[in-house]
Amino acid sequence: MNKKLITEVKDSFKAQFKTEPLMVFSPGRINLIGEHTDYNEGFVFPAAINMGIALAIQKSDAPTSKVFALNKEELHEFDIVGIAPIKMGEWRNYILGVVAELQILGKKPKNFNAVFAGNIPGGAGMSSSAALENSFVFGLNELFHLGLSKEEMILVSQKAEHHYAGVKCGIMDQYASMFGIEDSALLLDCRTVTSKPYKIDFKDYEIMLINTNVKHDLSESAYNDRRDVCENVSKRLGIVALRDASKADLDSIKAEITDADYQKALYIIEENNRVKEFAKAIEKDDVETLGALLFQSHDGLSNQYKVSCAELDFLVEQAQESPDVVGARMMGGGFGGCTINLVLKSKAEAFKTDVSKRFKNEFGTACSIYEVMLSAGTHIVK
Ligand code: GLA
Repeated sequence: MNKKLITEVKDSFKAQFKTEPLMVFSPGRINLIGEHTDYNEGFVFPAAINMGIALAIQKSDAPTSKVFALNKEELHEFDIVGIAPIKMGEWRNYILGVVAELQILGKKPKNFNAVFAGNIPGGAGMSSSAALENSFVFGLNELFHLGLSKEEMILVSQKAEHHYAGVKCGIMDQYASMFGIEDSALLLDCRTVTSKPYKIDFKDYEIMLINTNVKHDLSESAYNDRRDVCENVSKRLGIVALRDASKADLDSIKAEITDADYQKALYIIEENNRVKEFAKAIEKDDVETLGALLFQSHDGLSNQYKVSCAELDFLVEQAQESPDVVGARMMGGGFGGCTINLVLKSKAEAFKTDVSKRFKNEFGTACSIYEVMLSAGTHIVK
């Protein structure tokens, strides 16, 4: 699947720019558990997947830089000095953001030409934006010998997202996309930004993603609002981040904050604990506990943190009612995108058919289903 994508991107580049490009592949990600804990300096459990962005990039002697988005057949030509975010700039802002953040670091990429395309469904909560940012920072670092480590590159990507896309995201997406390991998920400590890989083999069960194919508008402002709530509660507690709080700490200020904020902070504290429990359950091959933790996570995301929506809740209810699904929850920032499900392999086809029918009946639109492979992070394609 990616071979075809990479070839198409390379051919398009050669046809337009008449030179050999450097080829980079940068994957999207899933997240087993630990949602919204990353910007609270907590734990998350993501994995890079076999879908992503293919980038062809090369230096240019022209006075401007050119980037062609092959999926959309849109070209953006820009001056590499005096970069600023573009209103409604969509994909352009991620790339401009990366170049601008490199410049802020004192790195000076020169003009370049690029073509990119991706096969991550947009708005699915699988981090197509992190994959795009990482592909460019990685490509530019290589082409212009900027000397950045992977750790430094993901911070460039994250800042591009903060300043050029307006989402004050944590580090999970960029980390998973950059550092992914085949067949593994990464238990990432977002305070130290270091991870422990876990080989993932759920035996009789497989990971199934179900995309609601909706993305409600709320998602960006609501994301930043949630982050503000967490930071305000932390401030009141006199700590750096909610990672350092216990339920008892939170209870000590319960009377001073709204119940809605209390529930949100409590969700973070509980979710952070669930990630650690999840890691232990993997070590014990305890799939029942894994599943129970997924359902608990969804319940918290929906009822306490309030980032779910009718479509996601419906899919998780279907999973709860099926004897063949041991656990499920919404994945990513929320307000649409995918659920992640642990489904009995032998019953996966039947569940797929059934849930698709029910979703269609309920909402009149189709959901999409993906089985993904856990894969390597951002890399050069020879
Ligand atoms: C988005 C952000 C991540 C993370 C998740 C929620 O994907 O980019 O940093 O906060 O939402 O877990």
